[in-house]
Amino acid sequence: MPAPSGKPGRDCPRCPRLAAFRRDWRKKEPEWFNAPVPSFGPVDARVLIVGLAPGLQGANRTGRPFTGDYAGVLLYETLGKYGFTKGEYKAHPDDGLELVDCRITNAVRCVPPENKPLPVEINTCRDYLKATVAEMKNLRAIVALGQIAHNSVLSAFAAKKSASPFKHGGRSPVGHVTLFSSYHCSRYNTNTGVLTPEMFRAVFKEVRRFLNVA
Ligand code: URA
Repeated sequence: MPAPSGKPGRDCPRCPRLAAFRRDWRKKEPEWFNAPVPSFGPVDARVLIVGLAPGLQGANRTGRPFTGDYAGVLLYETLGKYGFTKGEYKAHPDDGLELVDCRITNAVRCVPPENKPLPVEINTCRDYLKATVAEMKNLRAIVALGQIAHNSVLSAFAAKKSASPFKHGGRSPVGHVTLFSSYHCSRYNTNTGVLTPEMFRAVFKEVRRFLNVA
């Protein structure tokens, strides 16, 4: 099988469980996107943000990462604060929002049942993550949102997990880039106080500082 590009086709068959889930949702909600969600933002960006997987009624519905669900509100607001957006986030892919020097992708491109991708699905979809990293020639920093994204990025670079354990606010060199890690900005994490907006902003403040001195 040829190495995939950074963009799976609409009917990517590689994860049978996710493909079946997608087919079900196409029947239930034919107006929704219901396909692997493409990365958002310029390919020449220096920063890549890696989320977990599309939310059912968020990215899976709208077709743009973190768009239309709770997690996106904090993410796009924070990106705006540190100069990574142009325009206003209005939770819709036609809102005209642009990302500046930053791109967003997911460790798993298709919506998983109950927001929980299986290890085999994370491993299978990593080919797309690797291709996404490879096509970003100016890449300097990756921000992993949550431990699954963090570990998938390490595996994409064939880097040891023991050398870079997941930690909110952690930072480590991985391959030719620096990996910054954050708790995921999910509704659960923010409602339970695992992640506060201040903690999330601190990560992006660091990334901005890193780019400024790079
Ligand atoms: N939406 C995404 O696109 N990714 C996530 O990880 C969560 C919500």
